[in-house]
Amino acid sequence: MAKANEYLIRKAKKGDGKRWVEMWNEGIKRKFFVYNGNNKLRTKKDIAKANKKYSSKSKNEFTFFAVDKKSGKIIGSCFSNQEKGRTRHRVEFGWMVHPDYSNKGIATSLVKRAIKEAKKRGIKRAEAEAAKENIASIKLAKRCGFKIEGTRKKGLLTDDGRYIDTYLFGQVL
Ligand SMILES: CC(C)(COP(=O)(O)OP(=O)(O)OC[C@H]1O[C@@H](n2cnc3c(N)ncnc32)[C@H](O)[C@@H]1OP(=O)(O)O)[C@@H](O)C(=O)NCCC(=O)NCCS
Repeated sequence: MAKANEYLIRKAKKGDGKRWVEMWNEGIKRKFFVYNGNNKLRTKKDIAKANKKYSSKSKNEFTFFAVDKKSGKIIGSCFSNQEKGRTRHRVEFGWMVHPDYSNKGIATSLVKRAIKEAKKRGIKRAEAEAAKENIASIKLAKRCGFKIEGTRKKGLLTDDGRYIDTYLFGQVL
């Protein structure tokens, strides 16, 4: 486990865009983020978009980052999207950590923090999706209280051209 005093978990804020994109591009280039829906390198435009998102007080989204205390680098992220209308009590989570910081308990801390925030906001249901091959993500979801509620057949198209099934995870908060 990474020592808890080596990194902190905090809400995303304006100005985080650049470091978030650096983490994302590192994960893509090193072929660590192979089961995320998006497979593109991010650009300056994405930095601006992220900064805008992190500075707005959107009621429907919240993002938590793990930040290395020494370098200030963003080393992990858990983002959320709360739905609207009759499904407004649901939130969908996505998560990732920097390839150099995996398997140290960082995603567990991030997801638990995001669940706490969701409960605080009165959200009743959390959801996530992970490819059946994504062992770390499946373990993470289970460790954070999610249960497999279903399977999406051919839910993901991998970069090497395979359609693979994904699990749909849910938990009532
Ligand atoms: C999934 C991911 C976020 C997990 O982050 P992490 O910080 O390494 O997770 P944690 O250290 O908190 O560990 C959570 C569980 O995953 C397991 N795990 C972590 N890395 C693993 C690996 N490479 N292989 C197998 N299990 C792994 C841990 O042992 C732990 O399981 P346990 O409860 O049985 O002990 C990380 O692997 C990642 O960023 N993957 C690439 C991006 C991605 O796939 N995102 C999700 C798309 S659905």
